Amino acid sequence: MKLYLDTANVQEIREIHALGVLDGVTTNPSLVARALRQAGERFESENAFYERFTEIVREIASIVQAPVSAEALASEADAMVEEGRKLAALSEHVVVKLPISEAGLRACRALADEGVAVNMTLVFSANQALLAARAGARYVSPFLGRVDDIGWDGVELVRTIREIFDVHDLDTEIIAASVRHPQHVTASALAGADIATVPYGVLKSMIQHPLTKIGMERFLADWEKAKQEL
Ligand code: E4P
Repeated sequence: MKLYLDTANVQEIREIHALGVLDGVTTNPSLVARALRQAGERFESENAFYERFTEIVREIASIVQAPVSAEALASEADAMVEEGRKLAALSEHVVVKLPISEAGLRACRALADEGVAVNMTLVFSANQALLAARAGARYVSPFLGRVDDIGWDGVELVRTIREIFDVHDLDTEIIAASVRHPQHVTASALAGADIATVPYGVLKSMIQHPLTKIGMERFLADWEKAKQEL
């Protein structure tokens, strides 16, 4: 299973990219707004705000040189297609994120037919995933954390989508999204997700294990002791 970072924070992306484990990045409007708020950036107009968003997408793509999902904000199909073309033109690595809806499906089919990669987002059911695949989406993003939030089983949703895609030979890749903790990552890998998109904090905690820390401390202490006994 590949690992994406789920953030629009460029510092976080640089740091995790340097670890050599990053296969891509996903952003969404909430993540972009949060990154700009954290950076204390202010804008004089909506155009300037959108322009900054496109700059961030370009910067992320140039860092990771791998798929970067950027969400179209238009709500009507033709406008989604137009916006999707503009986003795709920012970098060869941009994947246009579209919500699953009638407009989203129409736009997905039109963009896919033009060779633009689409990540269909806000997927909460196997049927939505099936529709996204039929509309030519390169990726489908089931939101497992949000599914768990309403008392259903997000990992089970990933497993069901995997089975349907395998039985019907659909090559749309499954991105386990809305990942909340390291256990979600392990469970997504076992459930057959192609990719998990992971928040910075979750990825950092995946590195840690208390026994690793204790082991490193013990090795160093033994080494120091051995040096003193020379
Ligand atoms: C990624 O593509 C999604 O936008 C993201 O994982 C949503 O996560 P959240 O449910 O924690 O907002």
